[in-house]
Amino acid sequence: MQVIQSIKELEKFRSSFGKHEQLGLVPTMGALHAGHISLVEKARQNTDQAMVSIFVNPLQFNDSKDFDKYPKQTEQDLKLLEKAGCDIVFVPDAKEVYKEQPLVSFQFGYLEHLMEGYYRPGHFNGVAIVVSKLLNIIKPHKAYFGEKDLQQLRVIQYLVRDLSMDVEIIPVPTVRESDGLAMSSRNMRLTADQRQRAVVLHQSLMKAKALLGKMPHAGIEQLIKKDLSSEKLEYFSIVQKMSLEKCSNPLQDKEVALCIAAFIDEIRLIDNIIVSS
Ligand code: PAF
Repeated sequence: MQVIQSIKELEKFRSSFGKHEQLGLVPTMGALHAGHISLVEKARQNTDQAMVSIFVNPLQFNDSKDFDKYPKQTEQDLKLLEKAGCDIVFVPDAKEVYKEQPLVSFQFGYLEHLMEGYYRPGHFNGVAIVVSKLLNIIKPHKAYFGEKDLQQLRVIQYLVRDLSMDVEIIPVPTVRESDGLAMSSRNMRLTADQRQRAVVLHQSLMKAKALLGKMPHAGIEQLIKKDLSSEKLEYFSIVQKMSLEKCSNPLQDKEVALCIAAFIDEIRLIDNIIVSS
């Protein structure tokens, strides 16, 4: 497995890359877990070489304490990637990625006012800047993103569509622990007690799923909000799968996404499930 730290080295690698070969990119912020590994496996299955980038992007943290506490374990990540059969890892530092403070900024219209967009102002701008940079520098044929961050996935799909970027975005399903908790780098920060409580996000999604079609969406949302009163719930929303807007006519929406964000003490977790009727 080749480890590259500078953009110069990366450009060298890219210019020697076979003309008829496909490069798959898995962008990450490190602290890797089985969810990331499933992205790497997917990239290995349908491209010739799988590259992972590890970069904790300061620009996408709207809370500096959250950035400081974000788990960093590059040595362990590299071992995991080697074992997973990853071909190349790009591990730049902040000075390499942000030689200059970006002047450009991105706005994602109505998505800025929904769910993550509402609760994390500026977050998608930071994500879009770093993802654009990675796609422009690495020029992968395909890039892999987890459905756990569903709104991020949509933002990236719209970014690529609206700027006619020459890359295929491949969504990969969420990987879960045996009790249903969605894998996340933030789970590493949970104490044993918090870890037990964290499963409430998945339980709420499953409860809401069972109620779909039996009562109005607003009623389901109210019920889940009441259930979660002991945790700090930010949102629980039933939305259209693609646009992520509220379902105006639930009977017409064949595929909906149930999305949730809540704090387990100071640790913010998100999750979602997609339901087809
Ligand atoms: O999902 C993540 O880990 C990050 O938001 C991403 C896409 C790597 C951009 O920093």
